[in-house]
Order: sequence, then structure tokens, then C-alpha cells
Amino acid sequence: MAQQRLDVVTIFPEYLAPLDLSLIGKARRDGLLDLHVHDLRDFTHDRHRTVDDSPYGGGAGMVMKPGPWAEALEHVVAQGSAGEAGGAATTGAGEPARVPTLIIPGPGGERFTQQVARELADEPWLAFACGRYEGIDERVYEWAGERMPVRVLSLGDYVLNGGEVAVLAMVEAVARLLPGVIGNAESLVEESHEDGLLEYPVYTKPAEWGGRHVPDVLLGGNHRAIAEWRHEQRVQRTAERRPDLLPPAAASTALVDLEERVATPADAPDLQVLTRACWAPEFARYGMFGAGEEDLETVRAGIQEWDTRVWRRDGQLLASFRVRPHPTQEATWQIGRLMVAPYLQGRGLGRELLAYAESLAPEDVGTFWLNTGAKSTENLRMYKKAGYRVRPGEGEFPGTVDLTKRRSPA
Ligand SMILES: C[S@@+](CC[C@H](N)C(=O)[O-])C[C@H]1O[C@@H](n2cnc3c(N)ncnc32)[C@H](O)[C@@H]1O
Repeated sequence: MAQQRLDVVTIFPEYLAPLDLSLIGKARRDGLLDLHVHDLRDFTHDRHRTVDDSPYGGGAGMVMKPGPWAEALEHVVAQGSAGEAGGAATTGAGEPARVPTLIIPGPGGERFTQQVARELADEPWLAFACGRYEGIDERVYEWAGERMPVRVLSLGDYVLNGGEVAVLAMVEAVARLLPGVIGNAESLVEESHEDGLLEYPVYTKPAEWGGRHVPDVLLGGNHRAIAEWRHEQRVQRTAERRPDLLPPAAASTALVDLEERVATPADAPDLQVLTRACWAPEFARYGMFGAGEEDLETVRAGIQEWDTRVWRRDGQLLASFRVRPHPTQEATWQIGRLMVAPYLQGRGLGRELLAYAESLAPEDVGTFWLNTGAKSTENLRMYKKAGYRVRPGEGEFPGTVDLTKRRSPA
């Protein structure tokens, strides 16, 4: 399993001790995370191990000197790329990584979001520079930017005393997305912010506590009703607490409002999440929770083997499908993974996608072919309405059916 290397440079190495605890500590012991903490003061050359000085131009507070930062980061790069002290960082292809992506936490940075966490989870090597005082001399950002990718990231619109707390939060958010760190990967899909909505309320035993009752729907065992109730709760909660998260044009979303691209391997992490978000309720209908998950390599391979299209708005992946000539059936156009983010389903986007997927077929194609879960009632309804017929017998995969449609003459 892939390992992510993390280097943290700080004047308070002890601050990072919590990364030895809980699931992140276990991920380190299991070899999924290779964490190195460096004391910035080890890269000073005076008796007092000075890392700060007064600001040019006057003003309150002190500024971190550039010299120790450059030496510390050079040390991190040399150690991580050469494989000293704990092995070299390697890319997904197993090649030694040359430089890390440097994260500099700061209240003036780009907002750290779940989307950014996903991007960082895909990096083989991250380094974090924890500022203190009034921050780090600006020239360090320029110097580092000439040597490695640099991202300045803010936890939120408030000011902390130093970057360490921000790094703890970021490392936890990133590490839990790494394959193998969280035992039940399905729990990742259902969480707040994964698809733009907050999570639904959760309950555990006892069913009645202090006169308060768990909602009846959760006790009934009807998975469809539970999924619907949870979705409603998510929309309601998001509208109440974070209306800013609801897309302003959600009610009138059409394909033309979204940005279309042919997918590249860089889309794989988002596609993996969208697939899980779409599949989880499907598999739940069969009582197969957590089934059908694909690793990133498989998702990337799919992108190479198919013509995969993705639609985004404000960077967020909202819809996708993939098409290709059927590998074994002549003059047949295979349409797969037609997916719409759960909170945009039921608005007609799927029908638009299907028509578009068909329009991409070469002229010699006479039949459209697709496959869906035998119990996926909404999908089946949409496909039948679009003229597809269910083929007799089981589909290509257990529990699925194949559907076909003759192409109407032009
Ligand atoms: C007191 S702050 C410096 C604030 C700086 N003078 C400014 O106004 O932008 C010291 C350090 O705390 C960290 N920090 C403070 N607030 C943060 C936030 N919202 N997100 C991430 N890091 C933060 C950064 O590492 C920063 O260099």
C-alpha cells in the first residue's frame, strides 16, 4: 500500500505529539504515514538559536528570519529525496519524489477545505512550515516557490498563535483519506462536505433516552426510507446552518451551466468519491454496505480505457459518464458510470447526460448498451423512459441487468 511522507518544521516539535495517537498514530505504526518533525532551531548558528527579528518598517511583533527556514527546507528535501532517516518519499509510480509540496499555514491563505484535503491526499510527499510571531519573512515564500510547489492554506477566518494547530488539523483531514487509514471507507463518503452537504444526524442505543426517541424511520430497517430521510435531513441542515454551501442555482441546474471536460488521471480522486457517493445507496439496497469500492489505480485505469467526461462547477465534480465501443459486441456503444452528485439527482441531469453519451457514438453504432443494478428503480425508470429495454437474465455483474436500445435512424 502507498505511503505518504510528511515533514513538519516547527519551533515546537512537542506540539505535534498528538499525531502519535488514535488512527493517525496507528497509520504511522502501520507504515501508511511516514512523519518527520524537525526543530527549526536546529538550523540556527547562534548561541541563542534565534529564529526571529524585528520587522523592517516598524510595527508590532517579530518576524521569522529567512536563513533558518531555507536551511531547514533544504535539509527536508535532501533527507526525503535521498532516503535518509526513514526512507525516500516515492511517487505513485514508485519513483523517488524529488521535492515535497510545501504547505505554509496562514490566515491569509487559500481556504483549507475537504476538496483541498483530497488533493493533498493524492500527493506522495507534503512538507509543512509552521509560522509563529507575525509570520515568516516573505522572501522564504519566493525562495521555496522556485524549488517546490507551495500552497498557503488557511484553516478559517481567525488568527491562531502558530501554524502547529493548523498542521494537526490538516494532517488529520488528509491522512484519514489515505487508503487503509480508516477501516470503513464508506464512512468517508457519507460525511459532511464530501458532496457539498452536511451530514445527517446520527443516533445509537438506547432507542429511548431521557424521554427522547430515535426517529422511527431509523428503527424500521427500510433502507430506502432511511436513505431518503437522511438525504432530507442533510439538505435541511445545510440550508439552516450553512446556506452558503447550497449551490445558488441548484434548482435550475442544467448541463450547460456546468463546465465539461474529458477526464484525465488527475480527476481520479474526485471520480472515486463521486462513484462511492452514487454506489453506496445502491449497494445498501442489497445490504452490502461498503461493497464495490474501487482503488485509485482502478479508477485511473478506467479513465485510460474509456472516454470519460466530467462536469464541474466551481471546481466541484458534479456529474460524469464514460463511453466506448463495446469490447465484445459489434456496432454497440457502451455507456457506463452515468453519475450525478446525490444532491443534484432527480433534476433531469441524468437524462441530459444519457442523450449526450449516445450522441458521442460513431456512425456505425446501431445499439446502445448499459448496465445497472437490478434493484436500481430510479435508474431503470429513467433508462426505460429513454427507450432502453432490459435484456433477459442476469447482467454483466452479479445483481445487475443489461439494457439495450436500437439507435433510431438519423
Ligand atoms: C499570529 S499568526 C500571524 C498572523 C499574521 N500576522 C497575519 O495577520 O496574517 C502566526 C502563525 O499562525 C498560523 N496561523 C494563524 N492563523 C491561522 C489560520 N487561520 N490558518 C492557518 N494558520 C494560521 C500561521 O502559521 C501564522 O504564521
